[in-house]
Amino acid sequence: MMNWDDPFAELASQPDAAQNKTLHRNVINASDTQKTESVSTVSDDVNQPQSESQQHGHVGLEAIEMGADRIQVDDKKIINCRADLNQLVPFKYQWAWQKYLDACANHWMPQEINMTADIALWKSPDGLTEDERMIIMRNLGFFSTADSLVANNLVLAVYRHITNPECRQYLLRQAFEEALHTHAYQYVIESLAMDEGEIFNMYREIPAVARKAEWALPFTQHLSDPHFSTGTPEADQVLLQELIAFYVIFEGIFFYVGFTQILSMGRRNKMTGTAEQFQYILRDESMHMNFGIDVINQIKLENPHLWTTDFKDEITTMIRDAVKIESQYAFDTMPNGILGLNAPMFKEYLEFIANRRCSQIGLPEQYPGAANPFPWMSEALDLKKEKNFFETRVTEYQTGGALSWD
Ligand SMILES: [Fe+2]
Ligand SMILES: [Fe+2]
Repeated sequence: MMNWDDPFAELASQPDAAQNKTLHRNVINASDTQKTESVSTVSDDVNQPQSESQQHGHVGLEAIEMGADRIQVDDKKIINCRADLNQLVPFKYQWAWQKYLDACANHWMPQEINMTADIALWKSPDGLTEDERMIIMRNLGFFSTADSLVANNLVLAVYRHITNPECRQYLLRQAFEEALHTHAYQYVIESLAMDEGEIFNMYREIPAVARKAEWALPFTQHLSDPHFSTGTPEADQVLLQELIAFYVIFEGIFFYVGFTQILSMGRRNKMTGTAEQFQYILRDESMHMNFGIDVINQIKLENPHLWTTDFKDEITTMIRDAVKIESQYAFDTMPNGILGLNAPMFKEYLEFIANRRCSQIGLPEQYPGAANPFPWMSEALDLKKEKNFFETRVTEYQTGGALSWD
C-alpha cells in the first residue's frame, strides 16, 4: 500500500530534540564574538555525544565557527562533507554551477504559452478522437502529481543529504522548476476546463498512473525520515539507490512515454500549446536527469566501496522493472495505435533509453540491439528558446525587468 502521510506532519510530531538542543546551545551571541578572538562551541558541549551531523556531515545550520580555516576546494565532497555549507565558493564541481547557470538561462513560465488553439480543439466535438483525449488526460493525470512528488522528494529528502553548496544551488533551481511544471499542468487543466478532481486523483484511482507513483514512493521514505543520516556504507548506498530511483528511473524513464505521446500530437498540429508546455518541461527534465547522473557518478568516484556487485545487480533489476512498468503504461494509455505510434514501439524506445541510462551510470546495457524508433525526440530536446519561444508567447506577459512597481 502507498503511504500518503505528510512528511511535514511526521517531522512536527517527532522533533529531533537532541539536534535542536545542540543548535540552540551553539548559537553565538554577536556581542560575545567581539570580545573573544576565537569562539567555536560552548563549553558544555565538550563532553556531549556528537550529533549525527557532527559525526558524518553537515547540513548548513550548525553553529558558525569563528576563526576557522577558510574553505579549500579539497574540503568539499558531495556527501558526508564536514566543510561549511553556507559558502558557495570556491567551486569544486563546475558542472553543477554550469547547470545552475544553464537552467536559469532556460527560464520560462507556463502562461507565456498561447493555449487558444488547444481550447478550441478540446471543445470541438469532432476535434479529437476518444483515444487522443484519453492520452492527454492520462498524461496530465500522471504528470500533475508526479512533479509534486519529485519536488517533495527534493526538498524534504534529497537536499539535506547532498552536502555541497554548488549542487544545492542547482537543487534549489530544480525545485523551482518542478513547481513550474506542476503549474504548467494545472494551467493546461484549467485552460481546457477539465475536471480537476478527476485529473489530480488519477494517481490514486487509475491503475496505469498509480503504479508508477506507487513504485517511486518507497524510494523517498528513507531520506525523508528525520532520523536517517548518511555516513555508513549501508546508509550511503540507500542514498545512492534513492537518487538513482528518482533521477535515472522516475525522471529518466517514467516520463518518456508521456512526453513522446504529447509531443507527437504537437508534431501533427494537435494540442500545440500543450505540446509546447511539454517541450519546455522535457528540456528541464533532461537537465535534471543529467545533473542527477553527474551527482551519482561523483558519489561513486568519491566512495567506490559503495558500488559493489550486489548493489549493481539491485540497480539493474530496478531499471529492468521500470522498463516493464513504463511499457505497461504505454499499453494502458494507448490500447489502439494512434498518431503512427503503438505500444510495441514504446517498448523498444524504453529499452533503448534504459540502455543509455545503464551506460550513463556505468552498468552494462541490458537490451542488446534496441533501436530508437523516435529519433525526432532527440531533436525536440534541442529546443532553442530564442528561436521559437518568444514568437509564441502571449503579449501580456512581463519579464521581471519590465515590472512596474506603481
Ligand atoms: Fe518536473
Ligand atoms: Fe524534474
